[in-house]
Amino acid sequence: MEGRLHVAHTDGTEGEAGPDDAYVIEPGHDAWVVGDEPVVAFEFESAETYARLDSIPERRARRRPQPHETIWMLTNAVVASSALHAVAELGVADHIDDEPVSIKQLAAACTVDPGALDRVLCLLAANGIFERQDDGYGHTDASRLLHSDHPMSMRAYSRMIGLPVMRASFGRLDHSIRTGSPSIELADDGGLWAYLLQHPEEREIFGQAMTGKAAADTAAVLSAYDFSRFDTIADIGGGRGHLLRAMLDAVPTAEGILFDLPDVIASLEIDRDRLTANAGDFFVDPLPTADAYVLMEVLHDWPDAETAAILSAVRRAASPGARVLIIENVLVDVAADLRGHTLDVIMLAITGGRERTGEQFAKLLEAAGFTESTLIHTSGPLRIVEAVVS
Ligand SMILES: C[S@@+](CC[C@H](N)C(=O)[O-])C[C@H]1O[C@@H](n2cnc3c(N)ncnc32)[C@H](O)[C@@H]1O
Repeated sequence: MEGRLHVAHTDGTEGEAGPDDAYVIEPGHDAWVVGDEPVVAFEFESAETYARLDSIPERRARRRPQPHETIWMLTNAVVASSALHAVAELGVADHIDDEPVSIKQLAAACTVDPGALDRVLCLLAANGIFERQDDGYGHTDASRLLHSDHPMSMRAYSRMIGLPVMRASFGRLDHSIRTGSPSIELADDGGLWAYLLQHPEEREIFGQAMTGKAAADTAAVLSAYDFSRFDTIADIGGGRGHLLRAMLDAVPTAEGILFDLPDVIASLEIDRDRLTANAGDFFVDPLPTADAYVLMEVLHDWPDAETAAILSAVRRAASPGARVLIIENVLVDVAADLRGHTLDVIMLAITGGRERTGEQFAKLLEAAGFTESTLIHTSGPLRIVEAVVS
């Protein structure tokens, strides 16, 4: 039967490989790893089945890359990444709903060249984003997230990383490596925030991106920590207030204060019960008084000196016993955190900040007058560092 694989596991069990299993061929092509399972041996029904393996999409088979292939793939990862940015920018996913759409219709809806769009979508489909069906494309779980209306839409995030200023900064990473300074300074001396102030359309994309990327992780944060113990929660650098709104939904007794830069606050409609906005600069203006100060993906934007200044501003505003809650991709397994290290290099190039371990946060917190620093895991990639105002 076409594509069927007989699997003999090393623990002695046998069976047919499931359609959702992911395979990695070990060198020698006769020993494999399935997901997190230990090495398993596969017996193929025929040499033909073996040869066809890579072309059986439902098997999601992939050979473990040889060293030169690893370099090739990573060198060219920019191509698939650029394809994703372009497709997000063009809004291709918005033209597909439940049924596949022909490439001709998709190209007409986006006013683009059908052949070129087809080739770009083929590459994304090979990465699990969109699925080629007959003469068109349907959604996968991943491509649905590129739809503008999806509640966890990542379209704006992809557009943001694809903005020319971002790509130019990543393209000059050598400047950051040489100087230790963010390469975005080659585009704007004032850095990211000054740049966004001068470019309202890009600031809008940035705001949408922050809202979208947070949506997927908010539930994990809310279920990992009991926010109902607080009467007043201040979200410092809270952007559009997406996290704070979700917290107020979860805690109907709490009041929320959103603190962000004046131009960010001015662009918002604050039309929600129990939510007030406070415009200011956390390096200059006093912060509001609250029982809890939430800083989600704010401190990683800053080097240590500025991070210490923000924590000191919280310390000055807070009463003894108040909590600070740092919500970030806190580094735990420093060697293996691909997401954390990707963010770290983004911060190196774009903001001048960095990702930190729990210990690094604990030191900064202690120096700023906080005690009892504790690391709390969530079911998502974000972790919470909680500390108490001494
Ligand atoms: C990376 S975004 C994080 C937004 C939000 N907390 C989230 O996780 O989605 C950093 C936020 O810090 C704000 N910010 C930057 N500099 C600031 C300053 N000096 N004072 C107050 N807010 C600032 C930005 O406007 C932005 O909303």
